[in-house]
Amino acid sequence: MRPVSKGYLACVGCLGAAALVWSGWSFFVRHSSNWSTETLVTLLLLLFLSWVCCCLPLYIRDDCTVDLSFISILTSTLLLGPEAAVLVSAISFPFVVVSTPDGKGYQHIFNTSPLKTFFNIGDHALSYWVGGLFYYLAGGVPGDISLPGVLLPALFFLLAAMFFNAVVMLLFYMLEYGTPFYPTIFQMFMSLLPSVACASPIGYFLSMLLTMKSGVWLALLFMLPLLLARYSFKLYLSFQRQQHSMVEALTAALEAKDTYTKGHSGRVSAYACRIAREMKLPAKRIELLRTGALFHDLGKIGIPDAILQKPGPLTPEERTVIQTHPLRGVGILENMDAYKDILIFVRNHHERYDGGGYPDGTAGEDLPLEVYILGAADSYDAITSARPYCTARTPQDAGRILRAEAGKQFHPAVAEITAALAESGELTRCIPSQEETGGGVC
Ligand SMILES: [Fe+2]
Repeated sequence: MRPVSKGYLACVGCLGAAALVWSGWSFFVRHSSNWSTETLVTLLLLLFLSWVCCCLPLYIRDDCTVDLSFISILTSTLLLGPEAAVLVSAISFPFVVVSTPDGKGYQHIFNTSPLKTFFNIGDHALSYWVGGLFYYLAGGVPGDISLPGVLLPALFFLLAAMFFNAVVMLLFYMLEYGTPFYPTIFQMFMSLLPSVACASPIGYFLSMLLTMKSGVWLALLFMLPLLLARYSFKLYLSFQRQQHSMVEALTAALEAKDTYTKGHSGRVSAYACRIAREMKLPAKRIELLRTGALFHDLGKIGIPDAILQKPGPLTPEERTVIQTHPLRGVGILENMDAYKDILIFVRNHHERYDGGGYPDGTAGEDLPLEVYILGAADSYDAITSARPYCTARTPQDAGRILRAEAGKQFHPAVAEITAALAESGELTRCIPSQEETGGGVC
């Protein structure tokens, strides 16, 4: 890590420590005259809930979690004040134990860099302290959760805390990796929204329960179905992961039986991503295209080896058989929920812009741009790869062919951009290694 980044982490940690001390002092001074067992029990319960929620993040995808600790943070703010939210966050964080992304181990304070832990605690403390300022500015009064008056202060608290947290994290990425401020700040802010959207109503409901008689027990009972729902969702994601592994295994089997296909899917995926980025497609569409490109030829697993590996031009009958691979691929994937959005790539990657492709003969703008991008990337790889009866041609040759077929086989805009990227060597450069077959990273 760069020295300036380390300095930044330490600064945030120190400012967070100051916010923590200030919040602790304010909290205990405010409650010194009316300190009650009820306040202490509520604080301890919220600490426990924060710790449980941090230890059990809800995975939406493999790389995206919803942080349910917002529930206890919001409840702390509404019932005891934002100072309590700072305390709850800072005290529970060092005890958090979470499983590693690969599920093979655990991350905790003893195997995490002390500087990063210091930064994380400080970042949260500062964010909730800033959120607290906006809570009071919007007229928030701790303990008063009457509707609709509580809505505006709660919203101000959450949005300010989220935005400040995103800025603090982004400044680190800017210092360490040179990440641009725009549009990353927007993406980071949006990535926090699911956590807030999930946690806000639950946090308010929990606050209501805790103001009732026997509220602590009700709150604990209330958390049980939430944990059960989390467990069910985890099982669903695990099932999706198994499906993904199975499709990957089928792709690997296809590449093993067909030497030409070896590495083809990974390269096409990388080319398609690069072309899509050049055409300024949104990140979400590019990610879908990346997956679609990785599995676009999956249906070839059902094509007889004698045709797939034939060392020469195909007969018309053999060509008819090989042209069944898009629909065979759809047949494999169509019952898997996780792949429903990429079926169009698997089915239509051999369509032509002039309508002369297969299996549907769809033409022009009736197909999304990504399908034509995949078609161009697929053809570029076919042109520049060696086959038993055909030597590999240069990227410049590919550029000429793409331009000649613009408006016929290829979408005109896609053909022009792909040709330009091919001729400038950009497509060759976006493959990290010729041996790399499964990444599709560019
Ligand atoms: Fe294909």
